[in-house]
Amino acid sequence: MKNKKRRREQPRPTIHPRNKYSENPPDFALLASLYPSFNPFVFYGRDGRPRIDWTDFNATRELTRVLLLHDHGLDWWIPDGQLCPTVPNRSNYIHWIEDLLSSEIIPKINSNVDNIRGFDIGTGANCIYPLLGASLLGWSFVGSDVTDAAFEWAERNVKTNPQVSDLIEIRKVDTCIDAVLGEDSSKEDLLFCGSKSICGNSIGRELAPISSSTCDDAVEEKSYSGPPILFGVIRDGETFDFCMCNPPFFESMEEASLNPKTSCGGTPQEMVCPGGEKAFITRIIEDSVRLKHSFRWFTSMVGRKSNLKSLIAKLREVGVTIVKTTEFVQGQTCRWGIAWSFIPPARKLISPYVAEKSNLSFMLEGLQRQFGATQVLQSVESFFHENGASCKLNVHSFSADITASNEHLKGILRNEVGLLEEPFGRDCEEKPPSSSDTVPCPSDDLSFRITVFQQIPGTLLVKGSVQRKDGSIAGVFTSIFQRLEEVLKQKFCREKASVANF
Ligand SMILES: C[S@@+](CC[C@H](N)C(=O)[O-])C[C@H]1O[C@@H](n2cnc3c(N)ncnc32)[C@H](O)[C@@H]1O
Repeated sequence: MKNKKRRREQPRPTIHPRNKYSENPPDFALLASLYPSFNPFVFYGRDGRPRIDWTDFNATRELTRVLLLHDHGLDWWIPDGQLCPTVPNRSNYIHWIEDLLSSEIIPKINSNVDNIRGFDIGTGANCIYPLLGASLLGWSFVGSDVTDAAFEWAERNVKTNPQVSDLIEIRKVDTCIDAVLGEDSSKEDLLFCGSKSICGNSIGRELAPISSSTCDDAVEEKSYSGPPILFGVIRDGETFDFCMCNPPFFESMEEASLNPKTSCGGTPQEMVCPGGEKAFITRIIEDSVRLKHSFRWFTSMVGRKSNLKSLIAKLREVGVTIVKTTEFVQGQTCRWGIAWSFIPPARKLISPYVAEKSNLSFMLEGLQRQFGATQVLQSVESFFHENGASCKLNVHSFSADITASNEHLKGILRNEVGLLEEPFGRDCEEKPPSSSDTVPCPSDDLSFRITVFQQIPGTLLVKGSVQRKDGSIAGVFTSIFQRLEEVLKQKFCREKASVANF
């Protein structure tokens, strides 16, 4: 029983290793001794460990205030009820973006390489991402928001920190119709501005997003019809290295209050949007198509794993060149990050060490119950057949013998798009140089064997070995094997492959 339970437990990615709190979580006792205003919120459990009451908004706000001051030198405050960010959790998103930018999979579009420029959609009164990004990494930001409270308090939080204030611009989103009309928008799509009526069960916000359809329809369609998000807010000629967003996750305040274990505040304007995060992020995706040359990376947080799948499908539909996802875990809270780009990925470099190898292997972990060695072998077979190579399966030894000509190999490598978690097809013009251009193909046919071994339930080992040992052949074999690995991981352990980017 015990074993069974242990086996079911999924290994969870932890806090980002560069996160200040990854090795040293906030020390409440120390903070209480240094900051008298925090002291009343700290109490000691039976185990002698200091705690705070996470359901007390004043306690969580004071913790955020002292952490920003103590660890980041930031002077910060928000009024009662506004969304209060947890610093370790928000830092994870910043570090993930740092990883995306430094991976250089997507080449820089900003000629001023030292000045990273980000756009924070919905910066909130707390303005947490620009403050963290500027103080930790020296990035400059535009932070947008629609509410007066957010605009006023984000500006205050910037002004009280002169060390970063030159790096941050707070931009109020114009919620009036004209600002959101693209050339191809029709009158039917018009939004209400200012004080017009809103859906009965909605959130009472003055500028609530409304469609011209009935309220019921709007809920069913789950399409966003609120103030502009990117398109209409980004100015002509502006370019950014990335955008980020912690969207209004919920469709109603009832849904937003389902977690009684914490109190991080959050007004309806901050937490809710018709259609919830799915509709909001879908609009960001639509905007990104129109602004594909203005950003290197588009990113957003996603609160529900179930929404990730349909958002990724939407991204496929609009022809992005890459999608990356990650998981942000803090305590009991789990969120996901999604990032995409329209810029062709840079060429993948194959290290000489790897290129020499003629015996290679990789693990397929986290396979769903219905998938085993047989299904994986069948996928190996179709992977090579699709490109015209010969592939003979041996079901007894769980192996496949492949013979591929130069043309077959080039065909396989032409489909390669680099070290991507979600490499999507795009039209030919956008195609990056693939390793078919960079790795010499052998003059003779290449023969190799792929064998699949069952390790433990849910985990398979895939081995590949070249039948003839020869340096140049080993180079191309490495590329083919890497491509096979990407395809099998995408098919059989999608979530896992797309998660651990830390
Ligand atoms: C969940 S809060 C996030 C606040 C802050 N970024 C954080 O992480 O704590 C979402 C924010 O998006 C803002 N918002 C909603 N619609 C928006 C839009 N169309 N453009 C910009 N901000 C918007 C809300 O006012 C709110 O401040």
